[in-house]
This record gives sequence, C-alpha cells and structure tokens, in this order.
Amino acid sequence: MISISISPNIEKDDLFLTLRLIFQPSKWKKGDKEEELKGLIKEYFNIPYVSLFNSGRSALYCLLRAFNLKKKDEVLIQAFTCNALVNPILWNNLTPVYVDIDSNLNIDPLDLRKKITTNSKILIVQHTFGNPCKMEEILKVVKENNLILIEDCAHSLGAEYKGQKIGTFGKASFLSFSRDKVISSVYGGAILIKDKELAEKILELDYPSNFWTFQQLLHPLLIKLIIPCYNFLGKALLIFFQRLHILSKAVSYEEKQGKKPKYFPKKMPNAIACLACNQFKKLDKFYLHRKKISEIYSKELGVSYLEKDVKKTYLRFIFFHEKAHEIIRKFWKRNILIGDWYTSPIAPPDTNLERMKYKLGSCKKAEKYAKKTLNLPTHINISKKQAKYIVSILRELIK
Ligand SMILES: Cc1ncc(COP(=O)(O)O)c(C=O)c1O
Repeated sequence: MISISISPNIEKDDLFLTLRLIFQPSKWKKGDKEEELKGLIKEYFNIPYVSLFNSGRSALYCLLRAFNLKKKDEVLIQAFTCNALVNPILWNNLTPVYVDIDSNLNIDPLDLRKKITTNSKILIVQHTFGNPCKMEEILKVVKENNLILIEDCAHSLGAEYKGQKIGTFGKASFLSFSRDKVISSVYGGAILIKDKELAEKILELDYPSNFWTFQQLLHPLLIKLIIPCYNFLGKALLIFFQRLHILSKAVSYEEKQGKKPKYFPKKMPNAIACLACNQFKKLDKFYLHRKKISEIYSKELGVSYLEKDVKKTYLRFIFFHEKAHEIIRKFWKRNILIGDWYTSPIAPPDTNLERMKYKLGSCKKAEKYAKKTLNLPTHINISKKQAKYIVSILRELIK
C-alpha cells in the first residue's frame, strides 16, 4: 500500500515516541517541549516571536484577530487552496477575495492588482506545494497598496526565495504540522512574528482536551496498523475508527460548511510539541529525500522540477494531465493513494463553495488547473523503487 496522505512522515522513532507518550498522560498538556519547539523555530528562521497552536487553522485565526480588522475588510487569497485557509477568515467575519493563479499554482500578481479594493487589508500568499511565490512582485504590490502581508507556509517550511527563507518576507507567517505537511505532529501550527507589538496581541489560549490529544497520539499507531492491510479490511477499519472518533479527520464535515469545530482554536499541547520537535530535527533529511524522489519522477516523466532562484520543499511532485481526476481514481482503485491537491478551486472537493464565498467562474485558471492537477508522493516512506513503480503505472494510465 502506497499513500501520499495517511501519516506519511512517520518513521520508527516517531512511532516509539508516540507509544511512550500514550502511557504518560501527565505530559500531554504542560511540559518543556513547547519551549523547545519555539526555540528550534526561532533559531531556524531567526525570528524573535513564535506562538504555538493545535493547527495552522488555529494559528491563522488568532493572527487575523490580532489585527483588529472590521467586518467589511477583505483578505486577498488565491483560489486553488484548501478550506483550512479560507475558514479562519470566515470565522473572523472577514471577507475572502479570491485571486487567480499563474502556472506555478501560486497567486498571480497581475490578477492580484485587479482584485484590490479600498477594503483590501491583508494579502495571504500560499507558496503552493512549497514552490515560492514571485516575492519581488508581491512585495511591490504590498507596498504600493499598503497591504499587510501574511505568508501561509503550510507547504513551504524550508523553502527559500533568492536565499531568503520563506516565512520571513511578511509582517507575519504561519506554519502547519498537520498529517501530510513538510513535517507532521498529526495536527499543529505556529505563528512567526517579527515585531513585539503584534506578538503581544496574540491571544493566550487554553489547551485542547486530553481526549483530543489522545486522538492525535493514536493516529500514527493505528494508521501503521491499517496500512499493511489497506484493502477492504483496512478501509473498513479506517472508517470504523473515524466514526468512533478514535481517529481524527484532516477536515471535518462542519468545516466543509464553513463552520468552526470546538477544538479550534487551541494552544499546542506538550505531547504534540514533543512529536513536532522530533520531526523538526529531521527537516533536512526529509528535504533531501523529497528532492531525490522528485528527481526520479522528473527524469522518468520528462518534467522539469528545478527552478532558478528558489529552493522548493518538493512536498509533492506535481503532474498535469487532462484526465487527472480519472487517473487519481484509477490509482486509488489499486490502493495507491496519489494526491488530489487540489481537484477543486477550494478543496476538499465536497466543500460548500457558496459558504466559502467563492463564485464559480471567478478564477478561471485555478478552475482549469483543478481539473488537470495530480500529485505524486515524495515523503520519507517512499522508496526509489516505489517511485519508479508509480511512474510505470502512470505511464500505463496515460498511454
Ligand atoms: C494551503 C494550506 N493553508 C493552510 C492550511 C491549514 O493548516 P492546518 O491543517 O494545520 O490547519 C492547510 C492545511 O490543510 C493548507 O493546505
């Protein structure tokens, strides 16, 4: 069984750590790992203020609150995104304004200029799949229009633009450590801030319940049990554990309707920080592996993957094909879960677009790319042999 999204970053040491933590409930909430993780992030980015949350969603929600915006204020974001980015904007009663994308699947600076109004206050750039946006052009637009720039680094922890780390360009940025990101503690996120005044405005939150933390700790363990039998039995087990709420879902049903689950926003508990610290230390190793696997896909499929002036994260290997949706389904039928980011202008595909305030037809390129994008796994548990196997199937399917 090959999967792009079911706890893909988990290795043996993470599993043992999780198993130890399960039996130490006194360490689930408070402990010394929060400060350790903050220290690692501050040092890596050379940024003075870091706050930790139980998800990127919680982080963005609290960051937006800190700007004291008014109800009519607009937040510019790209289409071809996840509802996890849109929801924190809606939960703050702000208006998302969707901007179309360029061939890099990032916000298009030309369309951005067209979408700016007198109510535009914030611009969030996404660095989709860990490919940095055209930062020089973005910074020019930000300056000319007096916007506040936030970087969504959910896909781009470790990326660079002209030697500068992604996440250090804006007024603030946020990271995600959720299950299928660059590093993973099942759920988790952080805000990075340069100035003290803004940092002091970030809400001090409660910890999530111990049950919530327990649910996340169970995730890597149960998933590792399910993966070897991921046929009919594995799928049934996955659904069964999710129905019983023993396994958490990446996105809940209510979020697809624009609603806020009660476990967001919360602060990051110590047990989750402990998993995130262990993964953070493997950032370089993960990067080198993802690059090596991308090189194989690139060579075998004849698609270029390197770009001038940037360091990408290679979170996933992007492949375009007119029949992308059909190909994804055919892979899934063979129990090979390749990626469907993003088969809809706002993913997951069963997200209620009206509730997201997205009008079909408003971002034509994003909608076009949503029809033809599929992505291949590059994570640490994908071997060179598996990458070649995936390519052989892909070749067969596109023949
Ligand atoms: C582009 C993007 N931004 C933000 C988020 C939110 O991150 P999290 O899952 O940690 O809430 C996600 C994750 O789903 C994402 O894909």
